Amino acid sequence: MKEKTPRQIVELLDKYIVGQDEAKKLVAIALYNRYRRSQLPEDLQKDITPKNILMAGPTGVGKTEIARRLADIVEAPFVKVEATKFTEVGYVGRDVESMVRDLANEAVRIVEKEEFAKVEGQALREANKTLVRLLVPGVKTNNRQNQMQQMQAMMDSLLSGKGMPEEQEEVTDEVRNKRLSVAEKLERGLLENEEVTIEVEQANKVNPMGDMMGQMGMDMSALSDLMPKKKVKRTLPVSQARKLLIQEEEHKLVDYDAIYQKAIERASQSGIIFIDEIDKITAAGQRNSGEVSREGVQRDILPIIEGSTVSTKYGPLPTDHILFIAAGAFAESKPSDLIPELQGRFPIRVELNALKKEDFVKILKDPQNSLLKQYIALLKADGVDLVFTAEAVDKIAEIAYDVNQGTDNIGARRLATILEKLLEEVLYEGPDMEMGQITITQAYVEQKLSDIVKNKDLTKFIL
Ligand SMILES: Nc1ncnc2c1ncn2[C@@H]1O[C@H](COP(=O)(O)OP(=O)(O)OP(=O)(O)O)[C@@H](O)[C@H]1O
Ligand SMILES: [Mg+2]
Repeated sequence: MKEKTPRQIVELLDKYIVGQDEAKKLVAIALYNRYRRSQLPEDLQKDITPKNILMAGPTGVGKTEIARRLADIVEAPFVKVEATKFTEVGYVGRDVESMVRDLANEAVRIVEKEEFAKVEGQALREANKTLVRLLVPGVKTNNRQNQMQQMQAMMDSLLSGKGMPEEQEEVTDEVRNKRLSVAEKLERGLLENEEVTIEVEQANKVNPMGDMMGQMGMDMSALSDLMPKKKVKRTLPVSQARKLLIQEEEHKLVDYDAIYQKAIERASQSGIIFIDEIDKITAAGQRNSGEVSREGVQRDILPIIEGSTVSTKYGPLPTDHILFIAAGAFAESKPSDLIPELQGRFPIRVELNALKKEDFVKILKDPQNSLLKQYIALLKADGVDLVFTAEAVDKIAEIAYDVNQGTDNIGARRLATILEKLLEEVLYEGPDMEMGQITITQAYVEQKLSDIVKNKDLTKFIL
């Protein structure tokens, strides 16, 4: 696995996020530093702790978006949590340590996938063998017993309480030959739609207690792993049955102890935890003394960021080298409202900029799957080509900017509400219009939106 350089990480982020260069750059450096550190002698590695990052900036300018995209880009275990979801230890709700347990789960998922890939070939061979056996079953020897013998067997099983003995299968020469030819057909992909009946493990139903226990800070998943899984019979086409059989084989072929150990190592050395909405746990916004103490939550988070060991179901996970990235709008509070110890844990600060009209133009057009591209694709499904003129896009951005200035500044989220209003009619009539192409011009934008924009009260409700 080739490590992505900071420049490459920024290039990938550029595909989705407009501007915010400083934030992208710092995040990329922090990620790459993990790799740099891993190249050093071990005793030096121990002393180099990650430089955690705090991103601040107005609402709707891309903080969460950066985190989301980062999750796709990095191969390291990554989780994103919302600070507001946590409560102080001892209260009903999620305790802060659960973020570390989530990271461990994520790491296990990644390592498991890697290990599965290694045994893929073997699993496929085994699955195909099983399919042949299912397609050409052996001759059931039990059927040859006379009724008397069957009765006897039933009585025995009742008395011993062991259940009926499993049906024996005998592989006769005839069966063997048939299997050979079926195996060959299977290989050539001729039997993909043939139906077979397989036994699959039914995932344990989520039990209602689990949720309650979870809120009480207890991890029930370990318990549900212990409970025997119910097997159910399902009849499926070969192509689908094979997928399930491969999964089953993969689980059998990998060594889970090794996976868990590797995952814990991976999470502790290169894990990243993104804590969103951190500004919401400052005391500044707290009105009601009856609420769970937010400072309490901060104090609980502190040891995790500082470095402590959290027990997970895969083993103890030290948090010293996990990279933390926190983000918040800090509208009603400032980073300095966080408890001092916590502030000190985020030495790298980056301010995200408010978005200007030009940024809006780019956000509308440029990112992969940008808003305009989404609407164009949606109408394509009706067989309609939706086209926006450059002037129209400019006008939309201008209106978004003006509305943000005039009422609340909600950043790029404004674009979504404006577009929805603008395209209301097109989305409604689209399928019936039977027009090859619909062009959104500046005049159309003005006609649809200018009345609303002029009327402040109306804007507040509609846009
Ligand atoms: N710089 C940007 N480039 C591209 N899209 C953006 C940008 N900023 C915001 N957006 C879009 O606006 C929406 C809201 O952005 P995001 O969720 O990142 O806001 P935020 O900064 O986390 O705000 P909050 O403080 O309210 O959580 C997203 O859907 C995103 O696609
Ligand atoms: Mg956000």
